[in-house]
Amino acid sequence: MSQISIKSSINKPFNAIVYGGDGDLAFRKIYPALFHRFVDDQLQCDFRIFPVTRTDRKHATFFEDIKRFIRLSSSYEVNASKLDQFIEKFQLFIIPEHTDENYEAIKKAVDEFPTYQSVYYLSTPSSAFGPICECLKRSGLVNSKSKVVLEKPLGNSLVSSKEIHQKISKSFSENQIYRIDHYLGKETVQNLMVLRFANHLFEYSWNSDHIESVFITVAESLGVEKRGDYYDKSGALLDMVQNHLLQLLCLVAMEPPASLEADAVRNEKLKVIKALRLLDKTSVKAETVRGQYSRGMVNGEQLNSYLEDIEKYSSNTETYVAIKAHIDNWRWKNTPFYMQTGKRLASRCSEIVINFRSVRHNLFPQQGEIPGNKLIIRLQPEERIELVQMTKLPGPGGYRYKPISLKLDYVDSFSERFPDAYERLIMDVLRGNQTLFMRQDELEAAWIWIESIVKAWNEVEMKNVLYEAGASGPGNLLINGEPLWCTDK
Ligand code: BG6
Repeated sequence: MSQISIKSSINKPFNAIVYGGDGDLAFRKIYPALFHRFVDDQLQCDFRIFPVTRTDRKHATFFEDIKRFIRLSSSYEVNASKLDQFIEKFQLFIIPEHTDENYEAIKKAVDEFPTYQSVYYLSTPSSAFGPICECLKRSGLVNSKSKVVLEKPLGNSLVSSKEIHQKISKSFSENQIYRIDHYLGKETVQNLMVLRFANHLFEYSWNSDHIESVFITVAESLGVEKRGDYYDKSGALLDMVQNHLLQLLCLVAMEPPASLEADAVRNEKLKVIKALRLLDKTSVKAETVRGQYSRGMVNGEQLNSYLEDIEKYSSNTETYVAIKAHIDNWRWKNTPFYMQTGKRLASRCSEIVINFRSVRHNLFPQQGEIPGNKLIIRLQPEERIELVQMTKLPGPGGYRYKPISLKLDYVDSFSERFPDAYERLIMDVLRGNQTLFMRQDELEAAWIWIESIVKAWNEVEMKNVLYEAGASGPGNLLINGEPLWCTDK
């Protein structure tokens, strides 16, 4: 399968210094992403990859693991000699503590190629961001060409996010900081921009005169896996809504930016987040649901409860959240945005559904109320767009109709391999394009809204509703018993 080529290649040599270099993300996403772009001839320059790990790793097994993960991530036959060429670009650094002395080895390696841009990819807990950035600066490893990439979570509150930023900004300025939200690199999420802004058809109907509600669902069938320690401190609200779901909401709701230039887009997203109505103790019970999975059965197999998964007797952490959000601006007055996300739900399914209002006057009253059109943007597992419209059933017998979908199935329409979100995002970092990365003010605005929910939950001592693992979650509690679930369920 050929690959969709991501426009313009990179021709400025670089060093990618990956902190957390033996972590899951590095193996599953970062190294494979660089490899696929390399194979696709997009890295038309010399480059070096320096994984930085805290504990000693046997070199041979480390590189074998990288190869194994690259093969696993590939939908095409990996060329062994290309893989060897790629591995030759690596040099492993063991840095147990962030001290000037320990950084000398990195400095030496970076100084061998003083004209290369250095990208410091921090795939570590955010508590390490400050010490790493300070040490990089002190060691003379930061210059105007350097960039830093930050993986979430960027703190766990407005205060901690500001503290992290304050530390990082002593070494890097805002135009050198790339805060990753991998949802923004997904192909269908990108397509949302094109769908909205390259199709005249939707332009005039994209507002509350025509759109009754918007549903944004990111449902996962997996549980918390081995991330219980991290997850129990964040829960679904901080892990998913604060970043991924809010970013999706922004792309649906924002005004057309004047250009695709980074700040033009980010300014519009910021306005949406700032217009989100804060929740308080009088609204939070009616406008949010929080849940936690209990034991469940799927295909005869018993699934653990959340507490069993994290091996604790009690925890009030939510593994599911649904929110009815209101955007208080001209365009969206009276159009609620329902967001829901959770672990251990019935299936993996992420989609955005735009529910249009019904027609003004019903010419076919014999069939009751005419349902509104729906635009369904399916993000995963399949990538597709559907427009649900009323269609007459063939044959005599009057005007009988039913909702039929016009479908654009990405996989059928484009035979190319879709690059993983990380491939696009890492290429953008190398190119210096910040459009798909969050700015600090966006992040802070998101925290203000999220914290209004956390505070209100605490004030009303909001309890989790238990839902069975493998079932559809308690979202129906939010809209008068109506199911709030993916459209194919
Ligand atoms: C991550 C969350 O950011 O996104 C995980 O920390 C979640 O809990 C993951 O599973 C979902 O990403 P995707 O791309 O699989 O939908």
